[in-house]
Amino acid sequence: MSQNELLGLFIKNEGQYVSGALASEVLGVSRTAIWKSIRKLESAGYEFEASTKLGYRLLFQPDKLDEKTIQSLLKTESFGLPLHYRDEIDSTQNAVRELAEEGVAEGVVVIADMQQAGRGRMGRSWLAPRGKGIWMSLLLRPLVPIHCAPQLTLLAAVALCRSLRRETGLDIGIKWPNDLLINGKKISGILLESAAEDERLKYIIAGIGISVNMSQSDYPEELLEKATSLRIASGNSFNRAQLLTAFLLEWETLYKLYLETGFQSIAALWESLSVSLGKKMELTTPQGKLIGVPIGLDGSGAIIVKRDDGEVVTLFSAEMGE
Ligand code: BTN
Repeated sequence: MSQNELLGLFIKNEGQYVSGALASEVLGVSRTAIWKSIRKLESAGYEFEASTKLGYRLLFQPDKLDEKTIQSLLKTESFGLPLHYRDEIDSTQNAVRELAEEGVAEGVVVIADMQQAGRGRMGRSWLAPRGKGIWMSLLLRPLVPIHCAPQLTLLAAVALCRSLRRETGLDIGIKWPNDLLINGKKISGILLESAAEDERLKYIIAGIGISVNMSQSDYPEELLEKATSLRIASGNSFNRAQLLTAFLLEWETLYKLYLETGFQSIAALWESLSVSLGKKMELTTPQGKLIGVPIGLDGSGAIIVKRDDGEVVTLFSAEMGE
């Protein structure tokens, strides 16, 4: 029996339970073999509901995210051209760094169906299970001074937020600088790593993680309090290639606008999507904690905060609490 034959049986009986006894009779293998195959399908991203009385029911099938599927939907001029798909990788950031060092041009994307060692901001790890999310990195070579790098982080957040809102209809907002939230829970992360030479950016590796179709069981308990996926938040699953290509097009459009006209229009878009502005909160900065209300972005992309004592300060790096 092949994996596909078992899958075919579940797909033929969509929405229905298939008992282990029936599956083993139809496919001519033992119930243990059926059980092992189900475990394998689960590790490939499929989800089953198990009932001791009724058997198994297929709940979720991962969608295709290969180069061909993505290319058929891609409408960009340079972002995602070329695009390298990997079934499995340590981190897409590492793969793009290698390409950058080889001199590959801006726009190349590496996307993986799963990452074994996904990296988050501040040295954290990033959960990137198989078949459930968009785990990708894009190479940028903008001709801007090094101090403009934070602006590109905010730009990526705006592009991601605008495209996901349009594609999913969900109420998604940006928490400074670049976390995307639904009802206070994080659905994506952005990690920009850069290399510089003589005060100029040599390249930026923009890593994006979008938790698209993960279910509650994909998260460790402690993460469920602060993280969610588009599927958990909406009850619907989404086509990853469709979301990815819409995002790359939006990102490329805003990137061109930024290079032509500067940061101001991006800052205005960011402010309109922000869930951080106007809310009193605790901010943890490298210099210590403070209580205040973020009131806007300055020209460089730093956040302007009105402190409790009335003083206005500009923060380049901070963690926002509640
Ligand atoms: C964050 O901490 O919020 C940033 C998370 C960034 C995760 C993405 S997934 C694709 C790319 N590869 C990585 O190892 N990290 C980024």
